[in-house]
Amino acid sequence: MLGPVRTDRATVNLTPTCPTTLSGLLSAMRKSLSSLIMLGRLLGVVQIVVGLGMWFGMLAGAVAFHTAVGSLFVLVLWVVAGIALFALPKRGVALFALLWGALVLWFGMAQMTLLPGSAHWAIRVAHLLVGVAAMGLLEALGGAVKRHKADVTP
Ligand code: HEM
Repeated sequence: MLGPVRTDRATVNLTPTCPTTLSGLLSAMRKSLSSLIMLGRLLGVVQIVVGLGMWFGMLAGAVAFHTAVGSLFVLVLWVVAGIALFALPKRGVALFALLWGALVLWFGMAQMTLLPGSAHWAIRVAHLLVGVAAMGLLEALGGAVKRHKADVTP
């Protein structure tokens, strides 16, 4: 049984929600989930807008910015997938999202070297679809963790 414990020097509160425990840490991470999902949405929309700007030649100098924002987006996806890995009873989608994040990063980095020439439009469309699918995975995982939490919390 945990609770306030009297020691020689002070009373230490050992409640199960203590943030230094693993469950306390996980609960704090889940509370940040909504902020993470909002951040991921924002970064995803920025990626689409800046990416299309680059595609149509209006933002030709934005490649470094787009790459940095894209990497941050993948980081957010990985964190949400990591939370889902611990929070959800089934881990398949979370593991898939971790791998998909790696694919988004690899595709983005390799993008300019793939099929250079007249067929490069296919790589551009594929890159856009891979990114949009990653945004969908973020939504699906975030929603699943929130619903699961609502189901198990009295
Ligand atoms: C949500 C994620 C992402 C979305 C929705 C997205 C979207 C786009 C779009 C629409 C374009 C313009 C079409 C094209 O050239 O393919 C583009 C270009 C590009 N993206 Fe992304 N992107 C994402 C993530 C990333 C990441 C993570 C990287 C790098 C690590 C990256 C690197 C690039 C590069 C280098 C280009 C320019 C390619 C070229 O000029 O041929 N993107 N992106």
